Amino acid sequence: MSKHHRLLVENASQVVLVCSNGEKYLTKDGMKNLCVIENGSVVIGSDGLIKAVGPSESIRSQHSGATFEKVIDATGMCVLPGLVDAHTHPVWAGDRVHEFAMKLAGATYMDVHRAGGGIHFTVEHTRAAKASDLLASFCSRLVRMQRAGTTLVECKSGYGLELQTELKMLEVIEAAKRTLSINISSTYCGAHAVPRGKTVAEATEDILQVQLPRLRELMSAGIISIDNIDVFCEQGVFDLDSTRSILQAGRDMGLNINFHGDELHPMNSAQLGAELGALAISHLEEVTDEGIKAMARAKTAAVLLPTTAYILRLPQPRARDMLEAGVIVALGSDFNPNAYCCSMPIVMHLACVNMRMSMPEALAAATINAAYALGRSHTHGSLEVDKHGDLLILKTARWEHLIYQLGGHQELVRHVIIKGNVI
Ligand code: NIG
Ligand code: FE
Repeated sequence: MSKHHRLLVENASQVVLVCSNGEKYLTKDGMKNLCVIENGSVVIGSDGLIKAVGPSESIRSQHSGATFEKVIDATGMCVLPGLVDAHTHPVWAGDRVHEFAMKLAGATYMDVHRAGGGIHFTVEHTRAAKASDLLASFCSRLVRMQRAGTTLVECKSGYGLELQTELKMLEVIEAAKRTLSINISSTYCGAHAVPRGKTVAEATEDILQVQLPRLRELMSAGIISIDNIDVFCEQGVFDLDSTRSILQAGRDMGLNINFHGDELHPMNSAQLGAELGALAISHLEEVTDEGIKAMARAKTAAVLLPTTAYILRLPQPRARDMLEAGVIVALGSDFNPNAYCCSMPIVMHLACVNMRMSMPEALAAATINAAYALGRSHTHGSLEVDKHGDLLILKTARWEHLIYQLGGHQELVRHVIIKGNVI
């Protein structure tokens, strides 16, 4: 009997596999070779998984008797894995456009934070917002990300800083998972800032004794699913000891450790993450050589966020040193009211120009390695048989246009496909 498949994409000028050759991630040498098939095709089955990828002629002959729900002729176009955004804060109310002017005039991120703005401003508005309004703005942000090529995105809570609002945000993330096709990895980030009027010890106690136990109950009851735990480990926010106890408690509940570290000051966050078996640490503008070595040894991914370094005029994350040391380097947009960027192609462009990554390195960091940072590299992040059929079709014959063109990607990305469905 002939097989019926969901989708055939055929005759693409290039199919970029970002092939992991059985590894769950790529480091420097592997990142140079993304495995590009000239004139290639991809088959996605009715289960949404990739069934075949290879030169067009051999795919055609292997599937001569097969039928397809949809066929896309990609002549003159190229096919890439869907992009993975490994770090975002997309659920909130109250933008901070007024703070942008303050920062342009010289105020630092922590100046604004200490003056009661920054995260505190967004917390105030998010606490007051209705869940339905949060869901509507969140979904429209996800659609923007999707249009720029993101098919898997990490989404954090963290603008509640108390149980009720953190839960409201996590429930909004759950609702979006049911509404949209984009894949979501959800992160509890109740330790994003110390709430006004509380000490670090009090905030830590509330997370350990009130928030996490309730989340554990809801997770066991199947009401909510959370993948990762996050803490903003920084001077004037959560110190190393409180970070350690929160991350350990999250790990004991089965969450992946994936946190903010060494952003504005060297905190030895990288060493802490390596010691705790963290899957990923984000930012790392101020990481030390020792921290880099520890992350390489522990296979803890570095999620670099070029938009934040750019907007806050921070030192650039040391991508080259990390790659040389064998660290698994991933990328994220850090979409949040401070860094309002939904576009992973812009993130890759900044990573290449400002952090001196090559285009193949940036693409691997925004696909297979970002998937690794979310514990999903066995199912996402590359075009390989049995992985999810998540891919992009670009209107250009060479894939590098995705990074070379600065902005305007809604025009360049012809199709976004998630599990074989054209979005
Ligand atoms: O990753 N550094 C801490 N958290 C976010 C910013 C969140 C905000 O400013 O609202 C970040 O850049
Ligand atoms: Fe962040």
